[in-house]
Amino acid sequence: MPERDEWWRNAACYEVYLRSFADSDGDGLGDLPGLRSRLPYLHDLGIDAIWITPFYPSPQVDHGYDVADYRDVDRRFGTLADFDGLLEEAHELGLRVIIDLVPNHTSAQHAHFRAALATGSGSAERQRYHFRPGAGRAGIRPPNNWRSAFGGPAWTRVTGAEGQPAEWYLHLHHPGQPDLNWANPAVGAEFESILRFWLDRGVDGLRIDVAMSLAKDPGFPDLRRGDDQHPYHNRPEVHSIYRRWRTVLDSYPGDRMMIAEAVAPEASELARYVSAGECHQVFNFAWLETRWSAAEFGRVIKGTLESVRAVDASPTWVLASHDAVRTVSRYSAPSRAGEAVGLERARAALLVMLSLPGSAYVFQGEELGLPQVDVPPAARRDPRWFQSGGSMPGRDGSRVPIPWTTGAPSYGFSPAGSSPPWLPQPASWGELSVATQERNPASTLAFYRKALQLRRTRLAGLDDGVVILPSAPGTLVLARDTGFVCALNCGSRPARPPAGELILSSTDWPDSLLPPNSAAWFQLSAPPRPNRGRPAEGHVEPKGGSKAGAHPESQTGRC
Ligand code: NOJ
Repeated sequence: MPERDEWWRNAACYEVYLRSFADSDGDGLGDLPGLRSRLPYLHDLGIDAIWITPFYPSPQVDHGYDVADYRDVDRRFGTLADFDGLLEEAHELGLRVIIDLVPNHTSAQHAHFRAALATGSGSAERQRYHFRPGAGRAGIRPPNNWRSAFGGPAWTRVTGAEGQPAEWYLHLHHPGQPDLNWANPAVGAEFESILRFWLDRGVDGLRIDVAMSLAKDPGFPDLRRGDDQHPYHNRPEVHSIYRRWRTVLDSYPGDRMMIAEAVAPEASELARYVSAGECHQVFNFAWLETRWSAAEFGRVIKGTLESVRAVDASPTWVLASHDAVRTVSRYSAPSRAGEAVGLERARAALLVMLSLPGSAYVFQGEELGLPQVDVPPAARRDPRWFQSGGSMPGRDGSRVPIPWTTGAPSYGFSPAGSSPPWLPQPASWGELSVATQERNPASTLAFYRKALQLRRTRLAGLDDGVVILPSAPGTLVLARDTGFVCALNCGSRPARPPAGELILSSTDWPDSLLPPNSAAWFQLSAPPRPNRGRPAEGHVEPKGGSKAGAHPESQTGRC
């Protein structure tokens, strides 16, 4: 692979939620050899990189985001040799590999946490984590009011050598995920060594879990609404960690990257993670959180592009992940045709996402149009469901194992005669399987393949500019340089499309109008020209003009 080609800038990355992707050994859990056997499928899909969720030894209280050993592979998922073989084959196929790094917390079974428990208050071992005396008489209350993301207090009390109640430790997630103390240089040194362990093996990138929470306010104040500085989100100290890591990555040959998982109230705050000398990318979840609305999508696109441009970085786009309700169900319209509408919208949203500059992160199963599954309560496995006492349904519904073939019991997820998949698959899974969709040129899978392939041929090499053209209410029309245009119709009436050549549409058109809940790509014979008049009602055709950057007074918004 070429050196320093900044491959990540415009890559299509595919999230592999490993335990639900492909099971090679019949234990009902996806694994690295299973993933390796499906690399040709991913190659043919047309993606550039895969991001693999954690595969390290782990008690799995949070499905691998509780790491007991950062330098090995959990035997349920394979071996280090399996990982090396996977990486080699991925590279041979031209696919980059991003692994998940979990630096905010370890597993409670990690040797360092066990050593911390075995020693007393104030020990060097305890200083790798956040141990604090409790509040109130005899320390019976947690040290402060912080809450776990999964529900309940973010503190658990440990017992002393004599079995008496003693200090509390911090866990912003499950009690089995104690938070590390990043103010302790020993923690930083350990993670630099872990980074090198995987970079030496040849990984192309790292996805940084909970990247915004590593630094905590040393005073551990109560969390209060309206605080100027959050006690553990996006603190200024966190950025020095990524600057150090960046120097480690830059010392390696090839083009190694890191992408931060962070959320912030302001896009400009998020952009700090990708300012000079820090991370290469940060996940942009704004769109995932946006309702089906052309105006809202336009605002997110404009805000995102402006914020990353200010720090000279490239944007990312995310419609789905293992933490979110699947796109088809999120966009479903309960009062109308339900999931059919959701699928139309998911396909349309994909076209918009793939038309934008930057990299697109696709979650496994999106290419099959999988909906969120209503996993029966008795089968739920997400710690969020248990820790919240059943008040939060949890994320299992987006994590149900992938259907590869039409046949039950596991639709090709596991070999014949295996244990049942770790989450039950619905009866409709066979119709959505890869095998069924490969036989149908109008399937969602065929559409994804075409869109990803056309993105490569039509959009590679375009500049990062996007012009939002004036369009009818409920519609959004985006133009890139060379006259490539994407039109989206979120309205309730068909809209007249741009006058260019149709390249690809998310749905069939019964007549010459762009139907509601659809999007399409067009090639104009020339880049769009300025337009000062209002567009005709129901009309999404851009009316002339060069790029808005050259015409700041025009109605177009270059972002
Ligand atoms: C974000 C991961 O995506 C999620 O699945 C996990 O539960 C939390 N981080 C905690 O590690």
